[in-house]
Amino acid sequence: MLETLKQLPDDPILGLMAAYRSDKNPLKIDLGVGIYKDEAGNTPVLEAVKQAQRFHNDNETTKAYIGPPGAPGFGRLMETLVLGEGHSALVSGRTNTLQTPGGCGALRTAAELIKRCNAGATVWVSNPTWANHIPLMGDAGLKIQEYPYYDRASSSILFDDMMAALEQVGPQDVVLVHGCCHNPCGADLNLEQWQQLAELAKARGFLPLVDIAYQGLGDGLDQDATGLRLLADAVPELLITASCSKNFGLYRERTGAIIAISKTTVARDVTHSQLCNVVRGNYSMPPAHGAALVEIILESDELTALWNDELTVMRNRINELRQLLVEKIVAKGIERDFSFITRQKGMFSFLGISPEQVGQLKANNSIYLVDSSRVNIAGVNSNNIDYLVDSLAAVL
Ligand code: LMR
Repeated sequence: MLETLKQLPDDPILGLMAAYRSDKNPLKIDLGVGIYKDEAGNTPVLEAVKQAQRFHNDNETTKAYIGPPGAPGFGRLMETLVLGEGHSALVSGRTNTLQTPGGCGALRTAAELIKRCNAGATVWVSNPTWANHIPLMGDAGLKIQEYPYYDRASSSILFDDMMAALEQVGPQDVVLVHGCCHNPCGADLNLEQWQQLAELAKARGFLPLVDIAYQGLGDGLDQDATGLRLLADAVPELLITASCSKNFGLYRERTGAIIAISKTTVARDVTHSQLCNVVRGNYSMPPAHGAALVEIILESDELTALWNDELTVMRNRINELRQLLVEKIVAKGIERDFSFITRQKGMFSFLGISPEQVGQLKANNSIYLVDSSRVNIAGVNSNNIDYLVDSLAAVL
């Protein structure tokens, strides 16, 4: 039976990791997969995580099963981190927050839940969106449609076109929105646009699904969640998928959460039973370790302060690199306007070059980026920035 399977190409993002690793060029640059890198090009374990890990090693009392919803303490802390202390959805007790294997686990759980509400549902995703949104939703059997979001020519959001497309979406369907630091384009909705989206969601009755994988890496932990919080205040029902991969640097620990906000507390309990059943029939229960570390950090004022400091260093470094990259591009005499990079948020921006030019950067310069020209800004550092800009000038 397995003989009938057909070979597939590498994953468009993860495939770059192997290609980069096997490249022998000492000048090679990895701007592919979205992981934070420091000035030395490393992705270190955060000090707050190390301390939490030591505490956990000394105090863990059992390896017994954790159950489909994961650790309840983690769930409570995550929903407060995302929605903010005292948010109306929390005060009214309408939330379910389950620990998931990363943001991907949360998204797939959301997809399975949506399918149970309406097997024929369409999930509207931004054009462009994170490449893995499509299989995470689509492989669960949901239909996918795109709404216009980003104009590559002007490097800005097509908000009117987006709203016009979403005017057509009805109560049986879902609209997936990036909470902050849009992946791949880095262009986020402003608060007024979030407000208008909330009005439209209320008027049309569609279910918004907000994927927030980069909270804290744009403007700050609270600032990055302001739009999402406003939406959660305005609509009766909402799904949120959150990741601890980037802001806690827990990538391989697969730590995330799904937050489901229901209309009533009765509906909340029903949703809880369905979510637990989805999880049991999929991966049974989430891995414990990463969530245990997040819980230890967020329960300790001292570790939370340390983590905040480390997150601020990561965020500032990315924002400074955005400035520096554009300054170097101007200093090199490249005429094309790249100033949009300084206005965008989070790890990613498009360089706005063609797939052929991306291919040239790979083949001639050993610079690895996604074919769409998405770059991970955190992969830039003072040792490789001049080589990057020279190589960019050459392909332009
Ligand atoms: C990315 O977009 O590069 C990251 O979210 C990693 C991944 O799984 O694709």
